[in-house]
Amino acid sequence: MVICHCRAVNDQAIRTAIVAGAREPAELARMCGAGGRCGGCLPALEALIEEIVPRRREPARSSASAA
Ligand code: FES
Repeated sequence: MVICHCRAVNDQAIRTAIVAGAREPAELARMCGAGGRCGGCLPALEALIEEIVPRRREPARSSASAA
């Protein structure tokens, strides 16, 4: 199924890029072209990233809060 119509990128190509390490839409644009034009597919790209990599790392907490 085509996700990014501007660049004619299907979900399989996007999934492959995510598995290969893409974690942000800008990385997907570099790796497979998806999201690199109008941006209309960005919500779908974010959803695929969340589906495949559901938990993103929280920002590191300062050592002062651990005391
Ligand atoms: S639909 Fe993906 S950039 Fe336009």
